[in-house]
Amino acid sequence: MRIIGGEARGRRLKAPRGRAVRPTSDRTREALFDILAPHIPGSRFLDLFAGAGAVGLEALSRGAREVVLVETSERAAKIIRENAAALGHADRATVLCAKAAAVVRGLAASGAKFDVVFLDPPYRDRAVLERTLAEVARPDGILAPDAIVVAEHDARAPSPQAVGVLSKQRSRRFSEAVLTFFSAAAATQPTSKGAPMSEKRAVAIAVYPGSFDPVTNGHLDVIERAAELFQEVVVAVAVNSSKAPLFTAEERVEMLGEVCAHLDNVRATSFSGLLVEFAAQQGASVVVKGLRAVSDFEYELQQALMNRIIKDGIETVFFMTSPDNLFLSSSMVKEIARLGGDVERFVPPQVRARLAEKFR
Ligand code: PNS
Repeated sequence: MRIIGGEARGRRLKAPRGRAVRPTSDRTREALFDILAPHIPGSRFLDLFAGAGAVGLEALSRGAREVVLVETSERAAKIIRENAAALGHADRATVLCAKAAAVVRGLAASGAKFDVVFLDPPYRDRAVLERTLAEVARPDGILAPDAIVVAEHDARAPSPQAVGVLSKQRSRRFSEAVLTFFSAAAATQPTSKGAPMSEKRAVAIAVYPGSFDPVTNGHLDVIERAAELFQEVVVAVAVNSSKAPLFTAEERVEMLGEVCAHLDNVRATSFSGLLVEFAAQQGASVVVKGLRAVSDFEYELQQALMNRIIKDGIETVFFMTSPDNLFLSSSMVKEIARLGGDVERFVPPQVRARLAEKFR
């Protein structure tokens, strides 16, 4: 068992021996922290049923301010302390050896508040999960405003639903395990339709990658529709594409910034390297792509599947192009502009002006 990310990345952790522990698998832990990425730095993190402490110590490695780890076994608690000391984090890790629900009650009485709570009780005893979750979800309990609670549980049993101040946001399955994410904020801010705000616009951050050489009306249509659906859209110019671009990455990002200025939840940037790594760094769980004709499909399917193999937990979502843009592509726009044709119908005015400048 090793720390997967952050300053202690790659460091090995001791695990309790001779005890039937079921540590959160590396794959699940990686996906958990990819999803939690924006919430970890500076957070107060509570790791219930901590085992050898892999989840809580991972949070410290990734910048959590303080972690409380709760474990009933004396032997496991001793190992957590040793692991924390070996990573140089003993000062930011508090290990409590007692039953989770009782500790939560005690922490609530002391006024302690947490930004992130993780609980993975033994799968066989569903009642423990429900009891502990109910304790965590009490109003005026241990949850800071906007807290996130994540429960790991058996995939064969249904996901727990809304409880106390918590409402379920999403579940993600990893073979036998399911991670269910709850938000405290959503439960206290119902919309007029009764659904939590963040469920109306998917809580996800989406990355829309491409060459955007240059951005066309077809791209803009996808960006605008994605901005309606997702909390935030990061339009990402790939700088290591094998194509020789007409515009530099900076020019492409600038153009995107200009044409998306009216969208408050969209920002443009560039990236190099693997798309899925970039998406994870952004805290994104969705990759957005546009699909025009059937001819796009095979290539896009291949990329989406490959991306999923490289990194689980990132979903590709396709937007079908609007009929007006069915045959529109950046290459065709460039060709028309190069040969002196008018591209007014195909690109935003700012891009048309830039093309005219390039081919003057
Ligand atoms: O607009 P494009 O040129 O068709 O965009 C292609 C892009 C940039 C989305 C794709 O090439 C990409 O994702 N590049 C990043 C490198 C990467 O992650 N490659 C593995 C994909 S399976």
